[in-house]
Amino acid sequence: MTSRRRLAGELGVVAGFEEPRAPLEQYNTPPGLAAHIVHVADLNDDIEDSTVVDLGCGTGMLALGAALRGPNRVVGVEIDPAPLATAGENERRVAARADVDWVRGDATDLPLALDDATVLMNPPFGAQDGNEHADRAFLDTAAEIARVSYSVHNEGSRDFAESFAADAGGEVTHAFAAEFDLPRQFDHHDNEAQTVDVEVFRTVWDQR
Ligand SMILES: C[S@@+](CC[C@H](N)C(=O)[O-])C[C@H]1O[C@@H](n2cnc3c(N)ncnc32)[C@H](O)[C@@H]1O
Repeated sequence: MTSRRRLAGELGVVAGFEEPRAPLEQYNTPPGLAAHIVHVADLNDDIEDSTVVDLGCGTGMLALGAALRGPNRVVGVEIDPAPLATAGENERRVAARADVDWVRGDATDLPLALDDATVLMNPPFGAQDGNEHADRAFLDTAAEIARVSYSVHNEGSRDFAESFAADAGGEVTHAFAAEFDLPRQFDHHDNEAQTVDVEVFRTVWDQR
């Protein structure tokens, strides 16, 4: 079994949102995609000995994926306390190699100082409620605190991500597409499950 598949298996025990809140776009990154993102970050030397920050960590999928590799420190930031409590329980379910600091706060106005971080994030897209590119404010935070970030966006975001990075003196160095099924949990989903097409970008930031 590859280490990516093993990581996906380990993340399979991560519990999701008990009462997902649609305005916050609360759904879990599937374990397979989270493992893929962490594996690519690890191959690029962006995890080991780094401070990894998961912005909008929910119940901890990306933070815990990183904590299963060899980071210095992991911080998960989430605005809603309910999933943060689940994240703490999930940390006990996986045999993480690093402790995670679960921080309640706004990822777009961080309550703690961080720099030179590796940011992993699957932020709200804002596509459903007409608030197109709600992920922009999360990228702003990444530009502030990260040396490198891995971010999940809705399909068709490449031009946006590249021009955002260029404006901040950064560069998108890798991109890949993924798709996954979301269970029906919000009113605007009219089918049993909805297939979501996403794009993942690795961006190297020029620390301001
Ligand atoms: C698509 S979910 C991703 C959850 C988790 N990172 C994962 O990958 O499974 C987006 C998360 O961002 C959180 N969120 C939304 N706005 C936020 C904000 N301003 N600050 C912190 N977290 C926020 C939501 O509550 C939700 O948990």
